[in-house]
Amino acid sequence: MKKKKVTVGVLTGGGDCPGLNAVIRGVVKASISKYDMGVVGFEDGFEGLVERRSIPMDWLTVSGILTQGGTILGTSNTANPFRWPVKDEKGKMSFKDVSDKAAAYIKELGIDSLVCIGGDGTMAIARKLSQKGIRIVGVPKTIDNDIWGTDITFGFDSALQSATEAIDKIHSTAMSHHRVMVVEIMGRYAGWLTLESGIAAGGDIILIPEIPYDIKKVCAVVKKRSKQGRRFSIIVVSEGAKPIGGKLVVKQVVEESTDPIRLGGVGLKIARDIEAQTGLESRATILGHVQRGGTPSPYDRVLATRFGVKAAELCHSGVGGVMVAVKGSDIVTVPLSDVGGKTRLVDENHPLIDVAKNVGTCLGV
Ligand code: F6P
Repeated sequence: MKKKKVTVGVLTGGGDCPGLNAVIRGVVKASISKYDMGVVGFEDGFEGLVERRSIPMDWLTVSGILTQGGTILGTSNTANPFRWPVKDEKGKMSFKDVSDKAAAYIKELGIDSLVCIGGDGTMAIARKLSQKGIRIVGVPKTIDNDIWGTDITFGFDSALQSATEAIDKIHSTAMSHHRVMVVEIMGRYAGWLTLESGIAAGGDIILIPEIPYDIKKVCAVVKKRSKQGRRFSIIVVSEGAKPIGGKLVVKQVVEESTDPIRLGGVGLKIARDIEAQTGLESRATILGHVQRGGTPSPYDRVLATRFGVKAAELCHSGVGGVMVAVKGSDIVTVPLSDVGGKTRLVDENHPLIDVAKNVGTCLGV
């Protein structure tokens, strides 16, 4: 009897970011050419798994996608088979565990291993699915760079480039109009993107979630610069930044999401506070999803391809319950059970904090 071909499933979950397609391409091409495995893609992340939406993936499906932003498979940052929203006749929403249905679909398709490409929410769901006996390989993505267990996630470098370019452009208006320009950067509760883009673009003040800021200190720095003849200031602020003893600025609550809180707006608050306390004209720009778009940087293309190829290798060897990760210059694996529920934040003793301080950047305290 002919042996069944090993089949790999692949899905992208959570927010999109540059490099997702490069991982998909890496998984599909290595699976086909090196390991002679078949590949099935699920549409819109875990939504496709529950709603039975899948597509066969071949060489042509992934041809030409290396440089494209987003994900050809589609994604969802709310779909969770363990917490699936259902509405009753009156429109009242409740949540149901439909993971057995998802597992049955995986079995029906003859999938031996499932590659889940996503952020912390996706990894948490992947871990629970692997506890149900599904062989899972996780691939960490996010512009936030906050996934525990890996030195870096793909998507971060591209977002860093976009954020840095945007701050560079904002310098023109800041200098010409002698204004205080506040630029709000994504990253949720982690300050990596803000810290690195702030350093790269020469921000005068960098405010990250890990170091609550003192608005009086921020205003003092802005005024001092103005008195010294530097009649503008650039403030790079994380969406998750908050004043000492104060609260996060929440833009929206998305009930059905694994992480319902959507941050946003602290930049506007800081600009208002500075204008009120210093009399200097201040403006805020929220970069938003611009940071998640566009073609992946060469670094991200290479990293995503390495992750995809490694994921295919693990599927071929029958290794599951792991996430691929970067340690130094190596691609390694970490147990999915170690990843969940932790966030990789900027440590206050991180060398980049000192670097910023040593070039005279104020960190808000
Ligand atoms: O996790 C990636 C990210 O872009 C965060 O930086 C941001 O807080 C969040 O997603 C925004 O989510 P949404 O696209 O649902 O608004």
